[in-house]
Amino acid sequence: MEIIITPDYEAMSRTSAEIIAREVKRKHDLVLGLATGDTPIGTYKKLARMYKEEGLDFSKVTTFNLDEYLGLAPLHENSYNYFMWENFFKHVNVSAHRLFVPQGNTDDPEEFSEWYEKKIQEAGGIDLQVLGIGRDGHIGFNEPGSSFASRTRVKALYEQTIKDNARFFEREEDVPRFAITMGVGTIMDARKILLIASGKGKADVCREFIEGPVTSQITATALQLHNYAIVVLDEEAAGGLERRQYYNWVRDNKHVVEKRIGR
Ligand code: GLP
Repeated sequence: MEIIITPDYEAMSRTSAEIIAREVKRKHDLVLGLATGDTPIGTYKKLARMYKEEGLDFSKVTTFNLDEYLGLAPLHENSYNYFMWENFFKHVNVSAHRLFVPQGNTDDPEEFSEWYEKKIQEAGGIDLQVLGIGRDGHIGFNEPGSSFASRTRVKALYEQTIKDNARFFEREEDVPRFAITMGVGTIMDARKILLIASGKGKADVCREFIEGPVTSQITATALQLHNYAIVVLDEEAAGGLERRQYYNWVRDNKHVVEKRIGR
């Protein structure tokens, strides 16, 4: 894993947007996996600015979102589909028929999940998957104990996750107890992964998933088994890392490192 520590949320957002933009420029029909939550909002803003000011072109990009609350219709204002339109899609030149978000109000989640996996395959697989991280270490909605081999399916949410996400709803009782989420296996199939994290509240889990043992109890630790995972953190989220000096040396000597490892 490449660990990039940035000073603050603003710099984390800029760095992650630059990484995404680099991939979009490299491959105009990129298949991009997307995440929701507070963390990527700044990244999406930066990408929207790159589109407006520099003409970064999303017209051929296909996107697949990680997850969606089960039971919420796509236009529900707490749905992740709605979130994506408000925070990203409507601000750039994406093509609506290339945007995929799991359908929360499907009658048959199992059949839908199979269809979603098939769509990802048909698109040629995910080139770059963007991730946030939950305080219990989840990626997507892969709560503790999710198999590293899991595919898109319904997951029951942890109490902690429900509490953390209650801020988006009027009342905690309104937070759905279930979600459709890409599995850890689906995420791990992406050619490249970019996880972003910000704030003190994520410091413990960032230390655990970057420097702790691999365990399905913290599903983000699966990234240690991926051959191209980049983690962009701000100072607060990096607060608990023991090897930060090493990560910073690598970051500050990137030209030397790239020459050696050939990326
Ligand atoms: C939700 C999403 C995750 C996201 C997490 C963290 O649970 N399913 O994909 O990473 O929230 O959200 P935030 O960025 O708001 O801390």
